Amino acid sequence: MPHVHIAYHHKYMRPRDYGSKLLARRRKPKPKAAKPAARQSASAGRPDKNTATAKPGRGVPAPSTARQGRGVPARSAAKPEAGAAPTRPAPPQAANTAKKTLDRILSKAGFGSRTEATEWIRDGRVKVNGKPVKSIDAWVDPKRDKVTLDGAPVREGAKLYILLNKPKGYLTTYKDPEGRPTVYQLLKGVPGFVGTAGRLDMDTSGLLILTSDTAFADFITSPASHVPKTYLVKSSARLTDEQLAMLRKGLTLDDGPTRPAIVTRLRDSEKYTHFEITITEGRNRQVRRMVEALGAKVLKLVRVKIGGIELAGLGMGAWRELSRAEVRGLLDTPLAEPKS
Ligand code: URA
Repeated sequence: MPHVHIAYHHKYMRPRDYGSKLLARRRKPKPKAAKPAARQSASAGRPDKNTATAKPGRGVPAPSTARQGRGVPARSAAKPEAGAAPTRPAPPQAANTAKKTLDRILSKAGFGSRTEATEWIRDGRVKVNGKPVKSIDAWVDPKRDKVTLDGAPVREGAKLYILLNKPKGYLTTYKDPEGRPTVYQLLKGVPGFVGTAGRLDMDTSGLLILTSDTAFADFITSPASHVPKTYLVKSSARLTDEQLAMLRKGLTLDDGPTRPAIVTRLRDSEKYTHFEITITEGRNRQVRRMVEALGAKVLKLVRVKIGGIELAGLGMGAWRELSRAEVRGLLDTPLAEPKS
């Protein structure tokens, strides 16, 4: 399946809340004084989407300690002195080439922040046409030169959107200091780094989206986007209609009231209730905490749907790429809020 490049056109953004915020952040003007002559390259003057706008996926994947740089000013990567204007030399024939610095190429491809990329470059983990390049001042043409990070190809603009059926017992972090399995061990063959768009607890299974598109990951996880996430739940006690109504209406947790949810009783056994719940927030351990607020516990939790995306035949531990239409569909998820 071809990699998908999604343009964040106005049409796909939420007009009322998230979209306008995102677009506003994208349009944030750069201070004029900080614009050096060196920026007269092909990419000169364009806002750096990864730093100016995109809050990255949590638990990012990338190499070792990698965390996609949340709000890290790109310029600080090149020039650590506070407030100093960057003075990186212009590339040869910069005005007529598509050359970019390596930190920018890595960051634009969704690998991490430019600060992180600078470290990887200095550590010799980045190669250009098979040779390590440790200079952060090197200018490279991403269309012609083959850039790799730890041997993995870095492809500009080809964003990856992965759907994984996460098994229970896997962490959604990249590396676990205790050596427990992580979802990244299941992503063999994914042609690039992807960060998780939200998390699932270790004991939760089901649908997890991973992407190199940090703005998309942010959209999926931001409560302001109202993207519905549906879970199947087995509770440790039989829940009454009143208790399910409380979930529906919204409960007050220690981090505030929950939004109205769609709750459907599926079946009861002697001791347990199985129900389906759709929430539009995705706060930390939200479903478990909502059930705990009723005096019960979650014995089993499976995420079965995000927006219109379902697992539909994807085996446990298997992944596939999302199609362009599926990605667009997620961005277009209706804002309708369940009634309390
Ligand atoms: N809610 C939870 O409690 N856990 C998850 O993993 C996801 C949603």
